[in-house]
Order: sequence, then structure tokens, then C-alpha cells
Amino acid sequence: MVKYNFSLKSLNTFGLNVSAAAYVRINDVAMFEKLPKNLPLPYFFLGGGSNILFTKNFPGTVLHIDIRGRGVASSDEHQSIVYSYAGENWHEFVRYSLQLNLGGLENLSLIPGNVGTAPVQNIGAYGVEIKDVLSGLEAWDLKTGKIECFLPEDCEFDYRTSIFKKEGKNRYIITKVYFRLDKNPSLKTSYGAIQDELKKLNIENPDIHDVSRAVIRIRMSKLPDPNVLGNCGSFFKNPLIEIAQAESLAAEFPDIPIYPTANEHLRKVSAGWLIEKCGWKGKVIGQVAMHEKQALVLTNLGNANGEELRQHALRVKKSVFEKFNIQLEEEVNIL
Ligand code: EPU
Repeated sequence: MVKYNFSLKSLNTFGLNVSAAAYVRINDVAMFEKLPKNLPLPYFFLGGGSNILFTKNFPGTVLHIDIRGRGVASSDEHQSIVYSYAGENWHEFVRYSLQLNLGGLENLSLIPGNVGTAPVQNIGAYGVEIKDVLSGLEAWDLKTGKIECFLPEDCEFDYRTSIFKKEGKNRYIITKVYFRLDKNPSLKTSYGAIQDELKKLNIENPDIHDVSRAVIRIRMSKLPDPNVLGNCGSFFKNPLIEIAQAESLAAEFPDIPIYPTANEHLRKVSAGWLIEKCGWKGKVIGQVAMHEKQALVLTNLGNANGEELRQHALRVKKSVFEKFNIQLEEEVNIL
């Protein structure tokens, strides 16, 4: 059950050749109760490895959450509740929902990672976040040793964050997620890139399959495939800034993308644009670069190590701060 000095190279999408002092693959919820008592600490819970930058070998035990299974829990004439265990691949699960002709996940097509880690950072794309479709989840509570149930309102979802990234971090391990999906969905196609792509495909009355196809095409056109080029998607969050700062930036840079937020005093600004303006887009330093088609994506061009990637992220943060007085915050976890 326990493997020692285990390579994590194939288990992180940066493709970093780090090892864990110990490794256990959890493929059944019941295994949590049977873990040996003498495992090296701390624990690290790994899902699809698509949101983690390992800067060194991990001295504790990696518990790889690889619990599989999915299905329809219940249905009425309008909706179905569909579940997936945590170890299922996210995009495979989106495809399964589309095969069932259920709408809600199509805008979230092709996001790397697993179902169990998707709620942790409230994954989102093209106007939809997982919080919009989640009906509940189950998580193993390390403190009580029991499975706890969470409703959406218990998860404290916000832009790229949740309770599982804050006070629940290292306490709750998501094991199963339930989604409320629609039989007659209303599509979310207001995002400009989706409209442009549907136009290119000559689709006037799209359905969920068309929207998924459009999203896949957009993502493939600018986001690198982690199987080809090591990356973790957006490395930083889009920062929130005060209105006054947003207005003065807009006056100086008329093309800066600025978006409203739920908080009327704050605006969201595109981190990719800020990074590009600082000259980092496609600029190669050693084996590292911010991606040439999307400057928000930190890429491992081959043999970079985690520390080199982290140093590059720090360089980018420093120059964005110096030029714009904006502090970027990582979306990716750094260990
Ligand atoms: N932009 C640039 N230069 C760049 C990148 C972006 O100028 O190099 C500007 C463009 O004007 C573009 C705008 O920024 O129109 C927005 O870019 P994009 O549509 O690519 O979205 P994003 O804000 O950079 C966010 C998410 C992505 C998600 C897209 C689409 C975050 C941190 N990232 O990126 O999520 O796919 O929106 O909804 O919120 C991820 O989290 O890993 C991820 C890829």
C-alpha cells in the first residue's frame, strides 16, 4: 500500500521530477480509516496535480485521491443530480454529462484536473463557475475521522477560492461531488470569445454540445496542453483593485481589460494583460516562459525545476508591481 521515495513526475502537470518520501494511492473512501499510523508527516493530498508547483522533494506522505465512479443520483422532469467521485478526470466527467444531454458544465470543458479538486478553487471559465452548478459534496474530515456533507452555502465559494483553500485546508478531503444539471438548459454564451467561435462555426442556434465544442476550440487555441508543455493553467488570479486605481489605469491605457465585480468598490483587471505589458509574454528565461499565447500561463519549456519556475513567477510579480502598483496573487499552490 505504501511506496517510499516515489516519483511524482507523472502526477503533476508542470512535469517536475520531484519525489515524495512516501506515497499512498487512495482508491476507496474506506482506505482513510486503514492508513498506517507511522507514515511520514505532513500529508499532502494530491488530485490531478494541475494546480501545484513542487519546488523541492516532498518530505511527508502524498495521499493520491484516486477514487473512481460516477452516475445519476436522481432525476425529475427538469433536472438530474449527477455525482462523481473525486478521482475522476474533470473533462471526462463533463463529456459524460454531455452524453446524458444535461446542461451546466459545457462552459467548463477541457479544464485540466480532477472532479475532487475542482471545487477547492471554484474552477471557472467563460462566465460559469463550479459553484453555479454544484448541489453538494462529501469530504473526509481528518479532525473527526468522518465523512461530512457540505451544501453549496457551506463551501464559502468566491473567485478561485472556497473553504477548502482557507480554514478547511489540510482538514477536509473532498471525496464525492454532486451537480444539479438541466434537461432544458439556458446557455451562457455572452462571453465574446464564445460568440466569435460559434460564428466561425456557422452555428446560429447552439446547444450544449456546440458550446462545449466552441470552448474546447478557444482553449486549444491559446492554452498549452500540459501533456505537451508543462503548465498549471493561469498561474495568477486576476487581481481586484479599487475603482480609483482602475479609472486612472483606464485613462492611461485605454485598451486595459477591466471588469465589474460583485463588490461595487472593486474592479477586476486582467493579469494576462498586465504581464504582457511588462514584456513577459513569450519571453524565455532558461527553461521557463510565460506562454506566448496567454501571458497568465507559466510554462516549463522542458527541464526547468520548480525553484526556477517559482523564481520566474517572482520576477513577473515584481515587475507588475513596479509598473502598475498591483500585487499579483498566485492561483497555483506552491510547495
Ligand atoms: N489578455 C492579454 N494578454 C494575454 C492574456 C490576456 O492582453 O496574454 C487580455 C485580453 O484582452 C483578453 C483578456 O485579457 O481579452 C482576458 O483573457 P482570457 O479570456 O484568456 O481570460 P483570463 O482572464 O486571462 C480567465 C481565467 C481562465 C479562464 C478564462 C476564460 C483566471 C485567473 N483565469 O483568464 O482560467 O479560462 O478567464 O474564462 O481567472 C485557469 O484558471 O487556469 C484558467 C485558464
